[in-house]
Amino acid sequence: MIKVMFVCLGNICRSPMAEFILKDMVKKRGKDADFIIASSATSTEEYGNPLYPPAARKLSSEGIPTTYRTAVQLKKSDYDKYDYIIAMERRNIENIKRICGGDPDSKVSLLLSFAGRNDNIADPWYTGNFDAAFNDIVEGCEGFLNYIGY
Ligand code: 4NP
Repeated sequence: MIKVMFVCLGNICRSPMAEFILKDMVKKRGKDADFIIASSATSTEEYGNPLYPPAARKLSSEGIPTTYRTAVQLKKSDYDKYDYIIAMERRNIENIKRICGGDPDSKVSLLLSFAGRNDNIADPWYTGNFDAAFNDIVEGCEGFLNYIGY
């Protein structure tokens, strides 16, 4: 079982988009039984709120199914529970390490690093650009599946 936790600031845009995109990718490969995929926030800013409607609309327009979910914050216990803790932007990494008490097992990484890019997923909450976020997340998730041999 491969356990993946995506993390962003609010858990209403980028990390849940990554969660649903990766779930769709592994399902299309017939490998969904091999994975546990979740997402969470470093902040409590959006705790309890659903996927931001423009993010939901973008996923729907790309044919990616979503289920109802509400924002949660990353917990220290998630560090042991997941194999890969994947941040949307560099500043998430510092907050993940603060919540988890460091990264002793080197589980924390930047999503686009799997695509050979040292870039953040620009926050569409601020940019309004859900197309760019979607394309970058797809690129990162494809790179991740390639990295783990799927
Ligand atoms: P996300 O976007 O980190 O991609 O979910 C954000 C959504 C809300 C806030 C920040 C980022 N906020 O501060 O409310």
